[in-house]
Amino acid sequence: MRQVIFQNFRLLFTEEIDSTNQWMLNRIKAGESISNLVLCADYQTSGKGLGENHWHSEKGKNLLFSLGLDAGFIAASAQFLITQIIALAVVDELSALTREKDFRIKWPNDIFFQEKKLGGVLISNTIRNGQLDESVIGIGLNVNQMTFPDWIPRPVSLRQIVDREFDLQEILKGILRRFSHRVDQAKSMEGLGIINNEYHQKLFRIGEWHLYDINKKIAELRIIGIGEYGMLVMETREGKTIHCDYKTVRFLFDDELC
Ligand code: BTN
Repeated sequence: MRQVIFQNFRLLFTEEIDSTNQWMLNRIKAGESISNLVLCADYQTSGKGLGENHWHSEKGKNLLFSLGLDAGFIAASAQFLITQIIALAVVDELSALTREKDFRIKWPNDIFFQEKKLGGVLISNTIRNGQLDESVIGIGLNVNQMTFPDWIPRPVSLRQIVDREFDLQEILKGILRRFSHRVDQAKSMEGLGIINNEYHQKLFRIGEWHLYDINKKIAELRIIGIGEYGMLVMETREGKTIHCDYKTVRFLFDDELC
């Protein structure tokens, strides 16, 4: 594999792999340290999304990588912090790169541009004595792909948004630079406050009334924020507060409602 050292990261590049996340998890199983190791692939034969989902990406067009983090400074109960940090790093980098301001974090793990999905994050953590140990952070970002299969709901790529081709390595390095900064921030109380604030500012649909499928029932709700354990906190029209995990709530979109 081609190797590049960038800041405190060791970047590895491969043409094809089953899944960059799986490769990292195998390194952990083999007793190797994955801290600050990044594996970036042109193509995944078995790319994984949240739950049972498959992650599709045309060969060489998009950013597919996994990043290893020594997450020992984070309590197991606070693991959603990693999702917040990486999502902010991605959204901030994309906004700076394109000068578009409509990038949002759709809870729990999607990167959105307006009403469309640009990317996703998939995290696996190992835990030791109530603290996180190693974290594998996988990111798939649609960058230069122009067409998508019909089965993918509401996909979009950067190229479709701004009509130019992007250098994948440049985006990768920008995200890693911002990620490092956010990790440092997460080590102080003041920094944690900033992360939480900025995360909520970028949260898709925060404060807006929309229809959601909650345990197979449609309800009009509004997102208030993120609660304990990274749960989505929502308010009903009757003023009741509910806490949802990702299996309970499904966001509904206009094209599904008519
Ligand atoms: C989702 O939206 O469901 C999460 C998608 C995460 C996809 C990335 S691509 C790189 C890394 N390797 C994988 O197998 N999955 C993640």
